[in-house]
Amino acid sequence: MTQDELKQAVARAAIEHVPSGAIIGVGTGSTANFFIDELGKIKNRIEGAVASSEASAKRLRGHGIEVLDLNSLEEDLPVYVDGADEITEHMHMTKGGGGALTREKIVAACSKKFVCIADESKLVPMLGKFPLPVEVIPMARGYVARELKKLGGDPVLRQGFTTDNGNIILDVHNMKIMNPVELESAINQITGVVTNGLFARSPADVFLMGTPNGVKTLTAK
Ligand code: A5P
Repeated sequence: MTQDELKQAVARAAIEHVPSGAIIGVGTGSTANFFIDELGKIKNRIEGAVASSEASAKRLRGHGIEVLDLNSLEEDLPVYVDGADEITEHMHMTKGGGGALTREKIVAACSKKFVCIADESKLVPMLGKFPLPVEVIPMARGYVARELKKLGGDPVLRQGFTTDNGNIILDVHNMKIMNPVELESAINQITGVVTNGLFARSPADVFLMGTPNGVKTLTAK
């Protein structure tokens, strides 16, 4: 099976977590794109979606799915479905490879259940091999980079990239992420940081992992 076939399989499996008549949260990235395509097939079963990026909003609309403003909702969403760059057996994740981490974290925070969809290559014993994305207010770039170095990482500016919120991304390499919950908070305390790509304080509830032997459902150990 190719990696795309594994992504497609988990995207299909995630449809089982979509309640009828609901508005659902939709993530960003290549695996989320497969999920959006699956949603398109059942669009008459849902009321609409909240997107975590302009790119996902465009793809949803392309399938004729209504995209709602998060602020127009009066209650939390039942489910948020998204990929990850890395995930551990504790359901801690690194996200933001596509730069949509802040909106992803906002929509996830407003959702009762986080369903992570990814192929098995994303399951790691410890986070940190994938550079950790940090969204930063542009004028704070130098200061935040120095503070991230003090935390043990090597921040690199993502060249030619601006987030949907008009900010920059520092990708932090070589970070030993022994305690993702603590590190997530520590980085978010740096003035000028919008948010970072660790999803550990609120981990995934379910991980649908694509393997050549089928989709496995994992929950936190
Ligand atoms: C987007 O900003 C990311 O958080 C994605 O969810 C993550 O990078 C996974 O993307 P793929 O499904 O393309 O691997």
